[in-house]
Order: sequence, then C-alpha cells, then structure tokens
Amino acid sequence: MFLDKLTGLLNSAFKRPPEYITVSVSSAKAHAQPVQALPPSKLPRHVAIIMDGNGRWAKARGLNRSAGHAAGTEALRDIIRASDDWGIEALSLYAFSTENWARSKEEVGALMALLLKYFGSEIDELDEKNVRITILGDVDGLPGPQREAVVNAMERTKNNDGLKLNIALNYGGRAELVRAARLLAREVRDGILDPDDIDEDEFNGKLYTAGSPDVDLLIRTSGEQRLSNFLPWQTTYAEFVFDPVNWPDFDRAHYMKCLRVYAERDRRFGGVKPAEEG
Ligand code: FPP
Repeated sequence: MFLDKLTGLLNSAFKRPPEYITVSVSSAKAHAQPVQALPPSKLPRHVAIIMDGNGRWAKARGLNRSAGHAAGTEALRDIIRASDDWGIEALSLYAFSTENWARSKEEVGALMALLLKYFGSEIDELDEKNVRITILGDVDGLPGPQREAVVNAMERTKNNDGLKLNIALNYGGRAELVRAARLLAREVRDGILDPDDIDEDEFNGKLYTAGSPDVDLLIRTSGEQRLSNFLPWQTTYAEFVFDPVNWPDFDRAHYMKCLRVYAERDRRFGGVKPAEEG
C-alpha cells in the first residue's frame, strides 16, 4: 500500500507517461468491478454507439417507451463520463435519426423534452471537463428550444480540446453525404475549388464529423446488427461489436467489455500483416 503510494508520487513527480490506462469500474450500476487495464495503443480513438433497445427495456418492465428513453439518457450520461475518464478521443452517439420523426407524437415529444433537459443539466459539467460538443445532423430541422440549446452548447464548447462528443440529432447518413456533395459543388460553381482537387480528405472535410478521426469501433446494443444509416462514410474500416443488452442496461462494465473485444481484433485495413507477406 505504502509502496504503491510512493511509486505513484514518484511517477507523477517525474511525469512518466503511463504505460497502461488503469480503469476502475466504479459506477453505481456496475457495482464493484475489478480494476482493469488497457494499453492506450489498444484503445479506439473514435467510438460510435447506436443506443438501441430503450423501447424493449421499458416494455419488459411494463413501462411506456418514454420511460425507456429516460433510463437510456441516464446510461448515456455515464458512458460519456467513462469515455472522458478513459481517454477516448471522440464519441459519436446516435440520439435521433431523420426517420425517428415517424414515431408517435408522444414519443417524439418525450425525446425532445429529454434532449432539452439533458443539455440544461449537463452543459456546465461537460464544459468544465473540456468536452467539445458537435451536433451531427440538420440542426435547423429541430424545434426552436432544442435548436437554441444545441447551438448554444456547440458555441460554448467550440474551443475545448478534450473529448469530442458528437451527438447525432435529426441525422441521416445518406443525407450527410448528399450535403457534402452539395457543399463541394457550390465551391466548384463559385470557382473556389477545382473538381480535380476533390479527394477523400476534401470530401471528409465537408462531413459533420470533420475534425474527428474515422470511427474505429461501432457498438450497437439490443442485439440488432445493422448500421441504420449511421456514419456510413466514417465507419468504412470500423470494427463492429454488438452487445445483446438493451441500452438502459449498458454500463461501464459492458463498455469496457466492448473495448476489450476491440483490442483483440486484428485490423488490417485491406492489407496483410508483415509476417503473412511473401
Ligand atoms: C433506440 O431505442 C433509441 C432511440 C431512438 C433514442 C435514443 C435516445 C436516448 C438514449 C436519449 C436521448 C438523447 C439525448 C442526447 C438526451 P428504441 O426506442 O428504438 O428501442 P426498441 O428498438 O427497443 O423499440
């Protein structure tokens, strides 16, 4: 115990970079989990999450769907904190798709109310933690109060250089690609851009996620195994991990398990490992 403390003090005094990020799983939901470790080189830079199963979680408890979304918002709070604690560079969350407007008026209303509540209650802490918030999607299509809340959050955190927190709202992947093409076409029309200069980097720069690295790990909860129009460009080389648990039950322990599965994956990006060449 004493030796651990002394080593800790010496390490911090000499600012030796840690070899391992040590993670203590201690959220109220995760109960007492053993201390776990992951080498920083094994961590994904960008995690994207499709938070699915709120409705099924509620149904299983005889609750309405809105109660599922409220419980899902609690889960989301801690997963954002965990991402920050563990040094993830970017986290993208699928909160509301362009298709979700087709849900009942009550459910859409409940989701919009949660959104407003979330930004109201979390923005101070997120800003303090140096989190930069970006909304992926058509902000202009949101109702007035929600639009104002997210625009303020983006404006307030735009100079932060900690966790890049991307929240997809009124988002559709194909619409994002069409928007990027349109932005490039306008620049060509206005004589700012030569069509021959359009390459992947140029295109990437017109996406909502410009500034975030490609997605390394995509997690989807509830057992569904689909991309559902979420970040189709950015997930081209992502590893997919599907967790059967419904989103409100997804906690730090589940998250760490997904990160460990990712860490075991052999990523080749279309190539072969040097040992397999020849
Ligand atoms: C999918 O579950 C979940 C959604 C469509 C909404 C996700 C939103 C939140 C977790 C909270 C709101 C976000 C913020 C930023 C406050 P589902 O309803 O499709 O579940 P089901 O497939 O079981 O019906």
